[in-house]
Amino acid sequence: TKKINIFQMELPPRPKLFDFHGVSMTKCFTDNWDNVQNVKARPDDILIATYPKAGTTWVSQILDLLYFGQTSPERQSSIPIHMRVPFLDLCRPSQPTGKDLVDQLPTSPRLIKSHLPVQFVPKSFWEQNCRIVYVARNAKDTAVSYFHFGRMNMFQPEPGEWSSFLQHFIQGEVVFGSWYDHVRGWWEKKQTHSKLHYMFYEDLIEDTGREIDRLCSFLGLSPSAEERERIRGAVQFDNMKKNKMTNYSTVPSMDLKVSSFIRKGKVGDWKNHFTVAQSEQFDEDYKKKMKNTTLQFRTEI
Ligand code: A3P
Repeated sequence: TKKINIFQMELPPRPKLFDFHGVSMTKCFTDNWDNVQNVKARPDDILIATYPKAGTTWVSQILDLLYFGQTSPERQSSIPIHMRVPFLDLCRPSQPTGKDLVDQLPTSPRLIKSHLPVQFVPKSFWEQNCRIVYVARNAKDTAVSYFHFGRMNMFQPEPGEWSSFLQHFIQGEVVFGSWYDHVRGWWEKKQTHSKLHYMFYEDLIEDTGREIDRLCSFLGLSPSAEERERIRGAVQFDNMKKNKMTNYSTVPSMDLKVSSFIRKGKVGDWKNHFTVAQSEQFDEDYKKKMKNTTLQFRTEI
C-alpha cells in the first residue's frame, strides 16, 4: 500500500518491524549494521543514548550549546539539530547515513545520538572509554509520546489506534524494542562504566538549571552563570518548539500537521491517554517487568 501525501507525491510504505537479535527493529536501523558496529569512536566523543522519546533532542541541544554556543553561535542558528548531533544508527535510502555524518563531523568533541540498547553499542565507545549521557523517561509518558511520533513520522511503523499501540509497547513490539529492557540494561551498565551519566526527563522538567549543572560536573565544564542562564532559557520548551533548528520542521518525512515533534513536553500527559483499565493493566505488568531493580521513575511531579 502506497501513501499519497498532500503534495500528491508517492511516499514509500511504512516500514515493518522484525526481530533482530531479540529486539524489534526496522530496516532503517539494521541496513547499515556492520558499518555502525565498526564506527571508530574517539576518546572525547560524547554519546547521547536514549530510548526514543525520552528527551534526546532536548539534551542534544543542551550539550551543543554547552560546547559550542559561545565558540560558534552560527551553528545553532543555521544547522538543524539532527545534523549537529547525528543519529548514528540511522540509514535511509538516498540520504547520508548516520555513520557517515558522524565520520564527517568537524567538531571536537563530537556529539553523537543513538537509541541502541546497551548490548548493541559499537565496541569502540567502550574501548575508548567515551563519556555517555543516557536519558530515561517514565514508561507511560514515553509510550504516549512514541504513539504520536509514529503518527507523524513516515519512517515509523503505522502505530494504529492508541489501545493497540499500547499493547505493542508493553510487549516490546516497537522500534528499538522493550522500553523495560532498554532502561534496565543501561542502568546496569552504569554500575561498571563510570563515565555514564544517567539522567531523567522528569528531573529536567522539574529543574532544568540543576540538571545542566549536573551535566557540567559530569562533563568537566564550567560555564559562567550568565552562560548557564542563557542556555537554560534557550532550551525551554516554547523556545525549542518555535526554533526551526530544533523542532524538526526541516525534515520532510515528518508531518508536523499531524503532530508536532516538540509536542507537549509534560510529565503526566499519559493521564490524557490511558483509561483507568489500561493504567491498571500497565501498572500490574510494570511491577513484574521492573522487579529486582533499584531504578525508579516518576510518572508525576
Ligand atoms: P512529548 O511528545 O511528550 O511532548 P526525543 O527528542 O527523545 O524524541 O523526545 C521527544 C519528547 O521530548 C517530546 O515529548 C518533546 O515534546 C519533548 N521535548 C523536546 N524538547 C523539550 C523541551 N525543551 N522541554 C520539554 N520537553 C521537550
